[in-house]
Amino acid sequence: MKAITYAHAHSERFVEELKAFLRIPSVSTREEHARDIQRAAEWLKTRLLEAGFPRAEVLPTPRHPVVYAEWLEAGPDAPTVLIYGHYDVQPPDPLELWETPPFEPTVRGDDVFARGASDDKGQAYIYVKAVEAFHETAGRPPVNLKCVFEGEEEIGSPSLPDFIREHRDLLAADVAAISDTHILGKDAPSIVYALRGMAYVEVEVTGPGADLHSGIYGGAVHNPIHALCEMIAQLHDADGRITIPGFYDRVRELTPAERAEMAKMPFDREAWLEETGASTDWGESAYTIVERASARPTLDVNGIWGGYIEKGAKTVLPSKAYAKISMRLVPDQQPDEIAGLIEAYLLESAPPTVAVTVTKLHGGPSAIVRRDSPAMQAASRAYTEVFDKTPVFVREGGSIPVVTTFQQVLGIDTILLGFGLPDDRLHSPNEKFHLPNFHRGIETVIRFLTHYGDEA
Ligand code: BES
Ligand code: ZN
Repeated sequence: MKAITYAHAHSERFVEELKAFLRIPSVSTREEHARDIQRAAEWLKTRLLEAGFPRAEVLPTPRHPVVYAEWLEAGPDAPTVLIYGHYDVQPPDPLELWETPPFEPTVRGDDVFARGASDDKGQAYIYVKAVEAFHETAGRPPVNLKCVFEGEEEIGSPSLPDFIREHRDLLAADVAAISDTHILGKDAPSIVYALRGMAYVEVEVTGPGADLHSGIYGGAVHNPIHALCEMIAQLHDADGRITIPGFYDRVRELTPAERAEMAKMPFDREAWLEETGASTDWGESAYTIVERASARPTLDVNGIWGGYIEKGAKTVLPSKAYAKISMRLVPDQQPDEIAGLIEAYLLESAPPTVAVTVTKLHGGPSAIVRRDSPAMQAASRAYTEVFDKTPVFVREGGSIPVVTTFQQVLGIDTILLGFGLPDDRLHSPNEKFHLPNFHRGIETVIRFLTHYGDEA
C-alpha cells in the first residue's frame, strides 16, 4: 500500500511532530493550564488541516474546546468513521520522580518519555498521520472521516455528552474508532471489547469547629481523620469485597464461557508484579487477577488528606479530613445509583462525633461493544497483518465514558484500536510510548480504514 510506504518514509518527522505536541502542557484539571489547553487544540487543528482535512475547527464547550474535523469525500456509499481521541493529559506530579521533565519529550531507546505520550497524544496523533499518508498518496482517505478530539477526558468529560447530543447530526457515523488503550505486549496484539465505568465521589469529614491544640483537646474530641480512616477501612471486608449495601446487586456475573476465555489469556504473574512494583497481589480471592483488574467492580481511595502534612511536626487536632474515592463499574451498575449508595453508607457509618458530606465528582457507565461487526473484522485483519499475529479480545479495567455516549446518542459501536503497552505508566511518572507501536499504529489504522472501506 502506497500510504504505508509513505508513512515509513516520513516516520522520523512524525516523531518530531509528536514531540512538539507533547511539549504543550495541556493539563485539563488545572486552571492555570487553560491557555495550554487552548494552544494544544489550535495546534491539533492546524495539523489536521495540513494532513488534508478540508474542515477542521476548534469548537467551544463550557470548559475545554473540542477539535472537530471532517473529510467526507469518499463517496455516498462509503461508510463514515468517527475518530475520537483526547489532547488533554493528567497532571505530571510528582515531578521529582521523572527522569526527564514531563513536558520535554525525550527519546530513550525505542520509547518517547513525556506526560501524554501514550495517553493519549501519541495514540491520537496516529490518525492525523494515517490521514496525511492517504492525502499524499491516494489523494483522500478510503472512507468518510469525522474527528472529535476532546480536552476534558482526564476530568471525566463533563462537557462532552451535551456536545455530542447538540451535534448529533454533525457527528452521525457508522462506527467510532478510538486509540486510547493498550495491547497485551509488543508482539501480542489485542482488541478491547469492554471497559469499566466510573463513579467518583469526594468525602468531607468535619470534627471540631476549628483546628485545635492536640495537647489541650486530644483524647476528648474525636479526630475527623481517625473517623474517616475507620469509615474507609470498613469499605472492604477481609476478602477484598466491597461492603456497601447493594453495591453488587446489578453486577452482571461473568459467564463460565467468559471466565474460560479470560483464563486462556496469556498472563505472566511475575511480569505483572514487576510492572506494578507490588510485592504480591490483592483482592477478591474468588476471582483471578485478570478478572479482578478488568471485569470486577472495584473501589479505590485516590487521595486522603487533612491536618498537617508539611515538613516537620505540628501538634494539631484537625477540624477536617477529606478523601477522594473512585469506583470502577461493570455492566449493569449505574454510576448515579452507586454514588448514591456510597453516600448513604458513609453517612450511616459515620460516628456521631463528626459531620460527613459526600460530593459526586463524575461518573460514566461501563461499555461492551459487539465483536462480530464488519468494522471489528477489519480491525482484526489490520492487526493480524501488521503484528503478524491474530489479536485476542480482552476486557479492560480503565474507563472511556464516551464509548457509552456514542452508543446511546449516536447509536454506534466503537472499535478500540489500542497501541499502548501495559507498562506505559499512564497517569504515573515517566509515562512513555513505544515508538515502534506509534509507527505500527499508523500502519494498522491505514489498513483498518482501507479494509473497512472495502468491506462495508
Ligand atoms: N486511556 C485511559 C483509559 C484506559 C486506562 C484505557 C487504562 C486502558 C487502560 C483514559 O485516558 C483514562 O485514564 N480515563 C479515565 C476516565 C475517568 C476520568 C472517567 C480513567 O480510566 O481513569
Ligand atoms: Zn488517562
